[in-house]
Amino acid sequence: MVVHPGAQNHLPDTRDIVSLATAVAGCRGCDLYRAAEPAVFGAGPTSARILLVGDQPGDDDLDAESWAGFAEPFAGHAGRLLDDALAAAGIDRHDVYRTTAVKHVRFDRAGRRRIRKKPSGSQITACRPWLLAELAVVRPRVVVCLGATAAHSLLGADVRVAGRRGTILRLPEWLHVAGDPAVIVTIHPSAVLRAWTNQDDAFDSLVRDLRRAVGYAGETAPVSPADRCP
Ligand code: URA
Ligand code: SF4
Repeated sequence: MVVHPGAQNHLPDTRDIVSLATAVAGCRGCDLYRAAEPAVFGAGPTSARILLVGDQPGDDDLDAESWAGFAEPFAGHAGRLLDDALAAAGIDRHDVYRTTAVKHVRFDRAGRRRIRKKPSGSQITACRPWLLAELAVVRPRVVVCLGATAAHSLLGADVRVAGRRGTILRLPEWLHVAGDPAVIVTIHPSAVLRAWTNQDDAFDSLVRDLRRAVGYAGETAPVSPADRCP
């Protein structure tokens, strides 16, 4: 197994979201920077009570330039489905902080096509310092892991989404995340898009888990407008 040095030495001294989002472009914590696709950092209000973690940037996210000139996660298809699910759960997408477990996309080239690949365990671990830095800034009440890669990053490689979804979990103590947020594991919105036969059921199950997160966060009221961007 390839062991990557990890992102730790690439984090800036100043830990606000703009400084972090700027510094991630220079990260060499694993081999994924070499593909020369831009890194995509998280986005959303830093006063959000809910922080959502996906897997890696989507293809559309790389082109999106949504806040302060930065690309942003969940700007494409998966993001639109996520927005619908959040709305159905009673929360506006602008009131949650959205990010990914790995900030550079992993893919193989097949001719001119790019085929996305799941990040490896060591890439997930290498990139985790960025996610932990976001958690330290946002200090959410609830972290929602959307799919197995996010769950792997924060809860360990052994966590099975199907077995643990929807229940209130806690982060391992050794991650030293301040504020002891609750963690809820659910499916990734892309899994709903891929569910050809029972897409409605898959969507409803995602909404159910998000509702639990909203309920636990204790507030569906919007964050203050001044705090909506980034
Ligand atoms: N887009 C994706 O495809 N996946 C994510 O996790 C985030 C954005
Ligand atoms: Fe750094 Fe993460 Fe990109 Fe790897 S994927 S180079 S750890 S930002």
